[in-house]
Amino acid sequence: MKDTSNIVKYKFEMNQVIEDKTLFKTQCLINGKWVDSATNESIKIVNPYNGEFLANVPQVNRSQVKEAIDSANIAFKKWKKTSAIERSNLLKNWFNLIKENINDLASIMVSEQGKPLKEAKGEVNYAASYVEFFAEEAKRIYGDVIPSPFPNSRVVVLKQPVGVVGIITPWNFPIAMMVRKIAPALACGCTCVIKPDERTPLSAFAVLELAIRAGIPKGVVNAVTGIPSEIGEEFTSNELVRKISFTGSTRVGKILMSGSAQNVKRVTLELGGNAPFIVFDDANIDAAVEGLIASKYRNSGQTCVCANRIFVHSNVEDEFIRKLKIKVEEFKIGNGLEDNDIGPLINDAALEKVERLINDAISKGGKICHGGNRHKLGGTFFEPTIISNINSSMSIFKEEIFGPVASIVTFNSVDEVIELANNTKYGLASYFYAKDMSKIWKVAEELEYGMVGVNRGGISSALIPFGGIKESGMGREGSKYGVDDYLNIKYLCMSD
Ligand code: SIN
Repeated sequence: MKDTSNIVKYKFEMNQVIEDKTLFKTQCLINGKWVDSATNESIKIVNPYNGEFLANVPQVNRSQVKEAIDSANIAFKKWKKTSAIERSNLLKNWFNLIKENINDLASIMVSEQGKPLKEAKGEVNYAASYVEFFAEEAKRIYGDVIPSPFPNSRVVVLKQPVGVVGIITPWNFPIAMMVRKIAPALACGCTCVIKPDERTPLSAFAVLELAIRAGIPKGVVNAVTGIPSEIGEEFTSNELVRKISFTGSTRVGKILMSGSAQNVKRVTLELGGNAPFIVFDDANIDAAVEGLIASKYRNSGQTCVCANRIFVHSNVEDEFIRKLKIKVEEFKIGNGLEDNDIGPLINDAALEKVERLINDAISKGGKICHGGNRHKLGGTFFEPTIISNINSSMSIFKEEIFGPVASIVTFNSVDEVIELANNTKYGLASYFYAKDMSKIWKVAEELEYGMVGVNRGGISSALIPFGGIKESGMGREGSKYGVDDYLNIKYLCMSD
């Protein structure tokens, strides 16, 4: 049983935390209207900091999901014909409103997600940067003219929006992951129905309210909360939905991919990771420690790109752990709305998973260097942890930890560590620290990952192609490549 005796009890009042009370939306968005569940069923949203009730949101039924898809389909007929400039200007309005409301958006996010306020503000800025980027990119969706292989003919390539997009987003970045799908979709002329995660819909709804205020026409963005498997099934089986974009677990990604096969829908999947973070013995150790802090402990270790297995060369292991421990000891842990660095984990299941992984590692020889237990605050807090002597037989080596635990594997040679790092079904982010240029190129080229941070722990940005290979998914979000997944290529052969 979870102990919450050390957590401050307070009656959470969203109204006291946010300035613009009208951003606190607890209904679904269908065809430009905020609506309740047709059956009056609801989902309870709680604060992960202390488990207290925040709000009820609708548990819509399947016919309401269909209604949202129909409304996106009707809106698509007009939206796809708007000019690139018009779409760009509306996205810019949305960008401005997100920036203006950063404090309220971040506070709502902290309340339902638990991350520290400074990280929540960082996420809102990160989300806004996707809207800004794709507002510009809307004007650069170029077609092509190809030298014709046929006499008296012209070959022209058009880029056209794929249609209605079903968007399913996670709880760990409830605003940024949603916005980085909606912004390119809208820029390309697609419309969408979004299913925010049922643990964190309030910040998603608030951002969508700003989309409406920005002038985005009714039906272009819709959002529903309900039973995830039911919404997923409607998204995949409904022929009006021409594409699914999902960020979440590999298990659910596979279900959506196989469901999408029934009518050959396009899919963009940003799934689980098992990121290696390699520290070679020629690395700048202080920089590597800084990079690890940025990568490992962001959002209490609950990101898909968090360093999951930290490979440290035996020559520098003692120094690395000693310096890492000093930094980890400085973390302030507690309520995200106060000045803290580490918040609670999202729920009991997350806490139990971290504990199971640590217990399994210890039983097979893992050595706790720092932390290792539930935090004395109770609730879903876990101590920032460093555990060494990890090997590939342990679950912590194979599974995504999603908690504030740095698990350290010792290595001795370049070839050995490349093999260990690639020994996973995942291929999202990877990181390494080294100085020798020939080693840098070899490792960067041989790591089987969609993203490689070389001497850097933070690699996310709207300007880069974010995405993975292997069971970490397909498609790219952000950068000039981020529009490709929302566009069909049509070739015209025009003869005289
Ligand atoms: C994720 O954890 O899924 C995304 C994190 C990021 O965009 O940096």
